[in-house]
Amino acid sequence: MKQLILFALVFASLVLSADPPKPTYSNKYHTEFIFSLPYAGLNEPYVVDFDETKSRENINIYNGLVRNLYLYDATNDARYEIIITQDKQSCFKNPVDHLTPPKEAKSLTPVIPDLTDWTYTGAKVRRGIQCNYWSYQDTQYNTTSYYEFYAEVNSNQPVQYWMTGVDVVFGSHYDEYILDYYVFQDKTVDESAFVVPDVCKKPETEIPHVFGRNVVQFKNLFPKSINKKANSRFDRFMSQFGKKYDSREEYLSRKNIFENNMKKIEEHNSQNKGYSMKMNKYADLSFDEFRSLYLLPTIDAEKHEQLSQNLWEPETLYSLPETFDWRKYGAVSPIKDQATCGSCYAFSVIGALEGQHFLSHGKLLEFSEQNVIDCMWNAPHKSWGCDGSEQWKVFDGLMNLGGIMSEEDYPYLGVTGYCGFDKTKKAATIHSYYNVSNDEQIVMQALYQMGPLAVSYDVVSSNVYYSGGYYEDDTCSKTSLNHAVLMVGWGNYQGDPTKPYWLIKNSWSTHWGDEGYMYISRKNNDCGFTSQVTYPILNRD
Ligand SMILES: *[C@@H]1O[C@H](CO)[C@@H](O)[C@H](O)[C@H]1NC(C)=O
Ligand SMILES: *[C@@H]1O[C@H](CO)[C@@H](O)[C@H](O)[C@H]1NC(C)=O
Repeated sequence: MKQLILFALVFASLVLSADPPKPTYSNKYHTEFIFSLPYAGLNEPYVVDFDETKSRENINIYNGLVRNLYLYDATNDARYEIIITQDKQSCFKNPVDHLTPPKEAKSLTPVIPDLTDWTYTGAKVRRGIQCNYWSYQDTQYNTTSYYEFYAEVNSNQPVQYWMTGVDVVFGSHYDEYILDYYVFQDKTVDESAFVVPDVCKKPETEIPHVFGRNVVQFKNLFPKSINKKANSRFDRFMSQFGKKYDSREEYLSRKNIFENNMKKIEEHNSQNKGYSMKMNKYADLSFDEFRSLYLLPTIDAEKHEQLSQNLWEPETLYSLPETFDWRKYGAVSPIKDQATCGSCYAFSVIGALEGQHFLSHGKLLEFSEQNVIDCMWNAPHKSWGCDGSEQWKVFDGLMNLGGIMSEEDYPYLGVTGYCGFDKTKKAATIHSYYNVSNDEQIVMQALYQMGPLAVSYDVVSSNVYYSGGYYEDDTCSKTSLNHAVLMVGWGNYQGDPTKPYWLIKNSWSTHWGDEGYMYISRKNNDCGFTSQVTYPILNRD
């Protein structure tokens, strides 16, 4: 009997200790992986040399199309960002990001998570490889994020990292991120990766705008260890989102902004205004800061109408239905995601072109936003790739370029690249474009008669947090516009004539708003939706 108990104990402890050893990796490694954003349809090849022992890291994306080189050792003290702009390679030294404190900007970003608090979950096959996996989950403001890490059973080599949760760009909607590791060499780096390239010997001095050059900070994709002792909700927020501030003053001023934002959201949600708002990781930014980081430089739409040579005029005024939706006719492609690139204007333009192509050919063909981002440098009115533009400038630019390629032939990268436009592969050519008056009735006629329209508006903070319902906000501007979208319909929300809406297609994935769409007030040109309306005309070829 005694023996049996002993056996049972030994057996139980064997079972208990049967978890495979947790993988641990050093703070120096070379790895090659594919970073996938399934919602954006992006698969970005990365090569990373990470070396915390010497405070240096090289992140290479798309075979060098985008590079981030961190060198914080005794002889250097710089971060270089090497990107394509104006169709050539350019290097920026210590690019300023006003919102990241200097200390944080200097910190390297690991591309393998620290598994300390993770739990062994089981064995599973990933990419045909037998793996053990560990998981972790955390909940921030009623949204749970899930994390999984897969390692090969025998060697513990990393195979895959998977996360679904609050997105790292806006922090407002759900997203999914996957890293598929194909090469991993621990304790070793490629020394040649840390050689400062020639293009950085004469770095650029002029920086167009802060957007778009940001490389994804992988550390933001990994769970932060939660400070369980934090007692104020601001301290909990800091620990959940891995926030650090340089001084006591900054801490206090951020805390103040945070409390104000929380109050606004709580007040809003308690008033039952018809749409709901959610807290996210930008809760410590004032809206002006958010705007300067994530939106277009403001466009002044005041003169759109006066500056137009040939404003669109309806030849016939049709009697219009109470609701209208171009999606029902098949003129609108699925929701896309601009990811971390300031390319909203390209999505707006392409949406309008896709609508025109559908109307003239009876079938939907997706056109290339990347073609727009890469190729507007010689346009009569220059665009700035991932740093923004306006739709009418692009219509002009595409006429100049000689056409637009399909999404299939010129897929989206989410960063500015070299212009790869090939005339022999053009999918359509643009004849001209129209500006439309800001008169609501005329805009409705144009939408009804001509197809989906490229429009702009003023994003204010409540809109960033929008997660469905009828949206109305009288604090936004009618003339200072900072975001471009596609107008595809109108109606009365839930049939209520006091809630007339425009149906708007956004480019922030299906996880923002109402499956990527928004029902926004159609009263008094709220937020400037009719201030800068345009649409293109295609050549019949
Ligand atoms: C989380 O959900 C609960 C219950 O639905 C609600 O009372 C609370 O206000 C929510 N918190 C936030 C920050 O949204
Ligand atoms: C369209 O409007 C813009 C101002 O927003 C103006 O500069 C441009 O010339 C107009 N284009 C046409 C064809 O009227």
